[in-house]
Amino acid sequence: MTERKRQPIVSLWIGTANQGYAPYAMEEIRKVIPGCGFKPLSPGEVFWMESPLDRAATISSLLDSELVFLRHIQPIEASLDAAGDSSDLEKLADVLRGALPFFQGKKAAVHLRKANGAIFSYGASETKAALETVLAEAGGEPSVQHPEAIFSIYASGDKLYAGFATPYDMMSDWPGGAIRFQREEGQISRAKFKLLEAEKTFGLDYSGFTQAIDIGAAPGGWTSLLLERGVKVTAVDPADLHPSLQGHPALRHLKQNASAIKLDKGAYDLLVCDMSWSPMQMSRLVLDLKDALVPGAKAVITVKLMHRKPLQSIREVKERLGTAFVILRSKQLFHNREEITLFAEKK
Ligand SMILES: C[S@@+](CC[C@H](N)C(=O)[O-])C[C@H]1O[C@@H](n2cnc3c(N)ncnc32)[C@H](O)[C@@H]1O
Repeated sequence: MTERKRQPIVSLWIGTANQGYAPYAMEEIRKVIPGCGFKPLSPGEVFWMESPLDRAATISSLLDSELVFLRHIQPIEASLDAAGDSSDLEKLADVLRGALPFFQGKKAAVHLRKANGAIFSYGASETKAALETVLAEAGGEPSVQHPEAIFSIYASGDKLYAGFATPYDMMSDWPGGAIRFQREEGQISRAKFKLLEAEKTFGLDYSGFTQAIDIGAAPGGWTSLLLERGVKVTAVDPADLHPSLQGHPALRHLKQNASAIKLDKGAYDLLVCDMSWSPMQMSRLVLDLKDALVPGAKAVITVKLMHRKPLQSIREVKERLGTAFVILRSKQLFHNREEITLFAEKK
């Protein structure tokens, strides 16, 4: 019997994807870093990863390839045995002391994530309080907002995995990439968070657009965000929009199926689409409306992952839409459930 030659392990990581999508994140990673090894930590969501590349090469391979399902990556600099008492905080403080040059003079944050059943007994605020005194030794400035350096801890079973990196290298400045937005009084739908997250993730600023078409707009979370940003919106949906939007001077509601509408040529510089429909039918509808967009118009489109082969499904949609759009990014956002979000530009 021939034994497959194992590659040497050079760096260790914790990867995170949306619940249920970790297998696809691993599949994507294997394609860009052949020889990576994995084991689940929180099944379907968080996994341990062994890379045959060093830290810098692993990060650049992962970031350059703009993976769809990997939401967050944390280096493991130390794997500690947790005791479930205050000695755990002392061990973490020792690891952090060894990393202080990295935090020198930077806005720094401490992130803690705990898997179910972890024996580490402290919560996020107690852990932060204990470690911020250590950060202060390096002249680091504790900061929740916009940190420049993060000390990240993942507690799982009787282990504590600790590492540090910039938010850019971890792919997020939120613990595990779980970005949160404040729910507003009278917010129409949770779907609004998806469009907000797309704005941040794709480096967009909706206030820079003039005329948007929102396909599958009801009850109106996305439409309301665009209106708040000063964009004029044509909302298309046979269903009613929320009463708070009715009569808005910058809103036109076409209460129809999107396949039945006629739009002026070149009238829109933004298309958003959140139809929650079969990806192929959604693609056909969007392509039918392409002439309404000016060249260079941007599009933010959710793609429902209907069956068991999401990577294939995404490839097919990208191929179809690619006839009229340049696909700039495809990413499963934290607020996406059984879907991903595409960011595209009209050719
Ligand atoms: C997930 S909801 C959209 C939520 C919306 N983005 C928000 O922020 O409130 C999907 C919507 O797509 C609409 N829809 C589905 N197929 C459509 C079609 N062919 N034309 C227009 N709207 C459609 C549904 O009526 C439904 O209101």
